[in-house]
Amino acid sequence: MSFFSSITSYFTGGGEEPQKKERKKIIPLIDADKINIVALDDLKSRNNNESCYICIDGYIYDVTKFLNEHPGGEDILLDVSGAQDASEAFHDSGHSDEAIKQMEAYLVGRIQ
Ligand code: HEM
Repeated sequence: MSFFSSITSYFTGGGEEPQKKERKKIIPLIDADKINIVALDDLKSRNNNESCYICIDGYIYDVTKFLNEHPGGEDILLDVSGAQDASEAFHDSGHSDEAIKQMEAYLVGRIQ
């Protein structure tokens, strides 16, 4: 360690900068090029019990039929549905691998 780096680490505490936790993105197994590509804005009206679309990590899920099966409740899904990104809400809820597998059944497209 040079004099400069040791003196710098003395003043900065020598620790690494706290890293922002990287999280894995969900990438569906099916060929994404063969599914619908739409703009997030086009999902504006898909935010109710008749049609509920959710966007997670750039992919779109039609969860209309899943609303009353969701263990986390339907209101939480409705809140993040339509033309908005639900990735953070989904990942922050700490879903299991089983839940992530389940999502694939609702995949309908991806964001432009
Ligand atoms: C297609 C999308 C989704 C699927 C398939 C799904 C599936 C599930 C499943 C299976 C569970 C039970 C626990 C587990 O296995 O992890 C769960 C719990 C939960 N989900 Fe989701 N979920 C989806 C989207 C979301 C979104 C977008 C949010 C947040 C806005 C959310 C919030 C929650 C919460 C808070 C719980 C915990 C409920 C509790 O333990 O009291 N989920 N979800």
